[in-house]
Amino acid sequence: MPASLLVPSILASDHADLTAGALLVESLQLPWLHIDIMDGHFVPNLTFGPQTVAALRKHSSLFFDVHLMLDQPQRFVEPFAKAGANQISIHVEPEYDHATTLAAIRALGCKCGIVLNPGTPAAAVEPLLAQVDLVLVMTVQPGFGGQVFRHDMLPKIAQLDLWRANRGLSFRLEVDGGVDLATGPACRAAGADTFVVGTAFFSAPDPAAVARATAAW
Ligand code: DX5
Ligand code: ZN
Repeated sequence: MPASLLVPSILASDHADLTAGALLVESLQLPWLHIDIMDGHFVPNLTFGPQTVAALRKHSSLFFDVHLMLDQPQRFVEPFAKAGANQISIHVEPEYDHATTLAAIRALGCKCGIVLNPGTPAAAVEPLLAQVDLVLVMTVQPGFGGQVFRHDMLPKIAQLDLWRANRGLSFRLEVDGGVDLATGPACRAAGADTFVVGTAFFSAPDPAAVARATAAW
């Protein structure tokens, strides 16, 4: 299992000063930044477009972990790659050609990930596991930060970790939603190695203390 990695989610930072959020993450020597892209269709909320990501790219050299919550992600992988994404993750639920879209992400020079909503079984991504750099298990219904962690997702994480080990695969196993100092260790025990943390990082009185605590997971 890869070393544990805390990935702050810019969704929970001040949207009028995204640069400050990115610089805080950099100042703590955390290498990745999670960027949630929502279209108001696949999820009932709107966030950032490629122009925002491109603007932030000018102020940060962090690894941009871009999570597309879109009905038609295949239409947007190129604009986000050109905007400076380093990794682009797409949901398995909408109907489009997942394998072709993952290959397109790679061809654009980015790492690629596949994402499962809480209601989606691990089997839905099984045929794609050999093709991805990351599998993202949503531990809340996506759309909003600050929701309560779903403990019933832990067996799904364990199943994906088991497939990874049995098949000699090396994708990262990421969790997203309600992850904090209480729920993160349970995800780690189930096999997750990459922890998206929004509210529990940016709203913490001392984000550096959160970073230090997660390093021990
Ligand atoms: C939820 C997003 C998450 C969100 C997590 O739809 O995908 O990345 O930022 O936020 P917290 O950590 O507050 O649950
Ligand atoms: Zn996310």
